Formats: sequence, structure tokens, C-alpha cells
Amino acid sequence: MSEQVKYVLDESRIPESWYNLAADLPKPVPPVLHPGTLKPVGPDDLAPLFPMALIMQEVSTEREIEIPGPVRDIYRQWRPTPLFRARQLEKVLQTPARIYYKYEGVSPAGSHKPNTAVAQAYYSKEAGVKRLATETGAGQWGSSLAFAGALFGLEVQVFMVRVSYDQKPYRRALMETYGARCIPSPSTETRAGRAILAQRADHPGSLGIAISEAVETAAQRDDTKYALGSVLNHVLLHQTVLGQEAMAQMEMAGDYPDVLVGCTGGGSNFAGLVFPFVGAQLRGGRRVRVVAVEPAACPSLTRGAYAYDFGDTGHLTPLAKMHTLGSTFTPPGFHAGGLRYHGMAPMVSHLKELGLIEAVAYHQTKCFEAGVQFARAEGIVPAPEANHAVRGTIDEAIRCREEGRSRAILFNLCGHGHFDMQAYTDYFAGRLEDREYDPEEVAMALAGLPPVPQGG
Ligand SMILES: Cc1ncc(COP(=O)(O)O)c(C=O)c1O
Repeated sequence: MSEQVKYVLDESRIPESWYNLAADLPKPVPPVLHPGTLKPVGPDDLAPLFPMALIMQEVSTEREIEIPGPVRDIYRQWRPTPLFRARQLEKVLQTPARIYYKYEGVSPAGSHKPNTAVAQAYYSKEAGVKRLATETGAGQWGSSLAFAGALFGLEVQVFMVRVSYDQKPYRRALMETYGARCIPSPSTETRAGRAILAQRADHPGSLGIAISEAVETAAQRDDTKYALGSVLNHVLLHQTVLGQEAMAQMEMAGDYPDVLVGCTGGGSNFAGLVFPFVGAQLRGGRRVRVVAVEPAACPSLTRGAYAYDFGDTGHLTPLAKMHTLGSTFTPPGFHAGGLRYHGMAPMVSHLKELGLIEAVAYHQTKCFEAGVQFARAEGIVPAPEANHAVRGTIDEAIRCREEGRSRAILFNLCGHGHFDMQAYTDYFAGRLEDREYDPEEVAMALAGLPPVPQGG
């Protein structure tokens, strides 16, 4: 094998379709239910919130869904993204492992999120929508949708989780630069926000609450739709451009991953990388070990119940079967704001139930330690969310060293941390706390799970 570091594809190699894992699953994902009737929702139930094209993608079982020309044209601005062999990190770790990373931080907003933001804005514009309402944690998703909205002439209103709004003022400035309005959540602009603030005026917010505020805003106006940055099938679908490119780039490297690693908040960057490989395996291809890495302070995959739950705290969404800590659970205010979500994508949860993926949880200081080690070897400063994947990868590489085995590990470096430097400053000053989630709060939140019959 050569000493090549960077595997770069020509623009013509941007995938022409998104890959839909639903086509290859041995068992379908349990349906999304209407919270009133407990019957599967139909397209009409979702029509107030999403453009019909996205609703059809949500329920599609077609293996390939064509990427519209205008979306591919915008992807050209940063896609295909590079795939790197982490040769410097391998040296530092003295590991026989072959470490690769797909780098999504080269997008205009600095993460994988524009892959779906551009698609969602495109379909919304096509459907005559004027405004999009959304939530954001650390601000990566909000700034991606703000960017996509600017391209298609859509107004964008972003409810940003309060703790992140205070921690990351420059993400807010970026959203405003793209022309979006950014509101700290919980806010007084919605009933859901006001109800939370009445209980606790200094509430730090959560993605579940911000989703309620955005959904309420979208449901009130005919010209406004809701856009979600993760969790839903169509969002995961759009992210598969990155995994398909990674497959071609691994082929260029003359290698194939033994292990895939990704961080999981709602599951979209993880799915984007791993679904094409899992699909290939399900169609008889090579087996690959897949590891999801989540925060120990919000461990939905490793500690959550697999049950039907609401996607938001105000209970405005349908019910999805997923790993959940309970929709009223508020995770502690750690720095990886994009991972502070009570649930997990139903498709990712389903893969865990089928035994096709594993999950591990880490505290944030261990993740920052890994991120700093990575930055000092490879030069790129990862987003706090991505540090979870870096931690998982470094631990796999250390295991290779201890076992004296050379495995190929591929992880998704889903974003850079240039807007998250306060978190690094806090880490260096010893101010980052490894906060535990409160098991009593999780027990209470899970006691409030909607009463859906087993197997429903
Ligand atoms: C850089 C980055 N990585 C990961 C995530 C988590 O989301 P997901 O699990 O959908 O990729 C976010 C969410 O905002 C993010 O900004």
C-alpha cells in the first residue's frame, strides 16, 4: 500500500442517488404512530409539517432515490469531501491499525448537516414554502439550514437550545450572517416554551423542547414548514452521500473497513457513514463491525428503553419506536450540544435491536482528551460531538496495538470545532465537568412513556 494520505474524488463522483437502507433490512422498522389513535400515521398526518416529497422519502423502501440536479449542483461546492488516512495519529498511537476518517468539516457550515439542509430547503422551495422553522443544539444544524435557506430564498427561524446559545455566540452570528433569526429556547414565542419557562425561568433548554417550539411555529402557519436536522428516515437518507463516497475512497486506498465508528446524537452522521456499508453486508458483502459512540451524560442507545416515545418534550410529534431516555428528560449542559437529545433515530435503534451495531458511551473529558490528541497529530480540531467518534476510534486503535492486530478503522469526522473553542479553553482550564445524568430523572421521564401496547 502507498504512503498516500488523502483520497480525493472528482466532482463527477458525487453520488447520483441517496441510498435507502430500508430496502435491505431483514425486518422493517416499526411504523410511526399517531399519538391519539395509536395507528400508523399516513402522509396526510405529516403534511402540515413537511413537504410531500420528503414525506414520501420518509416511507420509501426504494433502494436508490435520485438526488435532484439542483441539489447535486450545490453539493459540488464542497463534495466529494476528502477521506484521510490518519498516518500521523497512527504513529503517535504506535498502533498497527489503519485509521481512516471521512472529513465533513469542509462544508460551508463546517459539518455534515448541509447534506440534508440543502435537500430539505430544495424540496420546501419546490412545494411553495416561504419559511422554515427548526431547532438547533450546538448550532451546526441551525447554521446549515440558514445557509440552505439563503440559497433558496427561504426565511429561516431557528430555536437554539439556551445553554448552547449562551456557550456559542458565534454560531448564532453565523446563522444571522446567512439571514436567519435565532431565538434562545425555551422562549416566550410559543406555548410550549412558555409552559417550560413557567416551571423554571432559568431552564437550560434541550433539543426536545426546541423541537416542540419549532413544530408549534410550523403548524400554525400555512407558509411555514418544519425542518429536522436528524432522527427522521429522510434525514439519514440524505446523509448517505458521505458513506457512498467513503466506499469509493476506501476502494481507492485498496482497503475495506473492519470497524466503522461514528458519534450519535440523533443518528444522522453515523447513519450517513455506516448505512451504505451495512447495506452491502446485508446484500451478502463483507461483514463490518459498527460502533456508535454517545455521551455518558445522555446515553440513549446504551441506557435508554427501546419503546414508542414522542420526538419532542411538548408532545406535538407522532410516536416513534426508538431508544429513549424519556421525552421530558433534560440532559446536563455538556459541550457536545448536538448530542443532547433524549431519543435516537428509529432506523439506528432498529439496527441496534437487530444486533447489527454496537454502542458505547464516554464522558466528555475523555472525548476532549482524544480530540486534542487528534488535533496535535492531524491538525484538524474536531467539533465536541465528533470528539466522541475520535475517542471511540483511538480506543479501537489502542486495542489493535494491545492485541498486535492490524485492523482498518474508518470514522466520521463529522465537523470541525472552530466555533467551539470555548469548550477547548474550558477543557484546558480544568473546567469541564463529567456530569452524570440523573437516573431518577430518567426513571421519571420513562414512567411517562405513552401507553403503546407491546409489539405495537
Ligand atoms: C458536528 C455534529 N456532529 C454530530 C451531531 C449529532 O447529530 P447526528 O447524530 O444527527 O449526526 C451534531 C448535531 O448537531 C453536530 O453538529
